[in-house]
Amino acid sequence: MAVDLLLGLQWGDEGKGKIVDVLTSKYNIIARFQGGPNAGHTLVFNGKKHVLHTIPSGIFHDDAMNLVGNGVVIDPVIFKGELKKLEEQNIDYRKSLLISRKAHIILPTHRLLDAASEASKGKAKIGSTLKGIGPTYMDKTGRNGIRVGDLELSDWKERYRTLADKHESMIAFYDAKIEYDLEELEIEFFKAIDILKSLKFIDSEEYIHQAQKAGKTILAEGAQGSLLDIDFGTYPYVTSSNTTAAGACTGLGVAPNQIGEVFGIFKAYTTRVGSGPFPTELFDEDGATMGRVGQEFGATTGRPRRCGWLDLVALKYACQVNGVTQLMMMKGDVLSGFKTLKVCTAYKYKGEIIHHFPYNIEPENVEPIYTEVSGWQEDLTAMSEDSQLPKALNDYIEFLEKELEVPITIVSVGPDRKQTIFR
Ligand code: GDP
Ligand code: IMO
Ligand code: MG
Repeated sequence: MAVDLLLGLQWGDEGKGKIVDVLTSKYNIIARFQGGPNAGHTLVFNGKKHVLHTIPSGIFHDDAMNLVGNGVVIDPVIFKGELKKLEEQNIDYRKSLLISRKAHIILPTHRLLDAASEASKGKAKIGSTLKGIGPTYMDKTGRNGIRVGDLELSDWKERYRTLADKHESMIAFYDAKIEYDLEELEIEFFKAIDILKSLKFIDSEEYIHQAQKAGKTILAEGAQGSLLDIDFGTYPYVTSSNTTAAGACTGLGVAPNQIGEVFGIFKAYTTRVGSGPFPTELFDEDGATMGRVGQEFGATTGRPRRCGWLDLVALKYACQVNGVTQLMMMKGDVLSGFKTLKVCTAYKYKGEIIHHFPYNIEPENVEPIYTEVSGWQEDLTAMSEDSQLPKALNDYIEFLEKELEVPITIVSVGPDRKQTIFR
């Protein structure tokens, strides 16, 4: 069986967690392929909200296996907190959670390095979630990292010490001085490592290969969004992993010709948290309305998300880079009440009209060109069928499908599992 992918097409927080949870009943295995606790994936069902950071969003289903793939970076302390929350919900994760031996570990000093690096950047800061993501992936590509499988070796603590000592000397090198008590952080870290070690570590690429051979269905869950991709995102205001479809191949060990459907998720408008260019960003009442109605606050950091109109130039680019086969439009309910909606269909780039996503989208280079469409006034949140959707929303959907040349197969009309319409 081919492996299906689900990933975000914007700057993250599109609603990936919700849709993975909705789709899990169709899959045997849910596998996260990149990112780490910088992610915050929200699931809502039975009147309760759950936020996952590292653990795949299929964990609340009894019969699905959940794999943390080799492309993921794990902070044992945050992971422990996630497990505790699952225990409180009586989720028996021991039988349904597997961890790749090749996943890398975020050390306390990686988090400190992240903080020192950001503090030194001043105004040019990335707006990182400060979870140590960048420094951990740097150690991975620099071939210095500590992997989950290393925890099974007798000398891993010596390797830890050497790396943490090196990090401390690097922290001292930064202009910005940060305060920390490493001994205290290490007590917490080693306790969390013991919990992590009580879970099942596996050679995950072999596991996936065998599962495919046995006809099991697998859904790969992405984190962040395509515009935060280390190669294709708005560099340097990006994360440190490949968030796009190719990242699922390297992050799980799945060959490109084994990928099936690519589900691309986007909001009916756009949000971004952290620094970096955002051509359709709004600074007016419309943007404030999106933020308020959409409750646009980061699931990991609580920071307010910047809001703006849908950007089809960026979305088309994301569809191309990922080879999206089906689109899922989230949060259409948030736009109810707007008389007209704007959609960016081209950029004025250095004085010229262009339709592709250029190298540099800084505000001094790019001005969005908008097409106006009618809004809808109806409350969508109680709708459960395609036939109930208002005409103006159907027109919006058809307009987007025509522009993007990909069908929209799910329309989400609220945060709850049940508020999902299949087309
Ligand atoms: P993820 O990181 O892609 O999983 O997305 P987040 O969980 O960070 O952010 C999405 C937010 O929107 C969460 O608070 C969800 O509960 C919420 N959400 C998801 N889908 C919808 C929707 O269709 N309508 C509304 N109003 N909220 C939604
Ligand atoms: P999910 O999976 C939204 C953003 C940060 C920052 C930049 C780099 O919930 O969609 P990092 O911590 O990786 O060094 O931060 O990327 N960012 C996200 N924004 N959703 C996310 O994840 C994000 N993960 C990282 O705000 O701008
Ligand atoms: Mg999120």
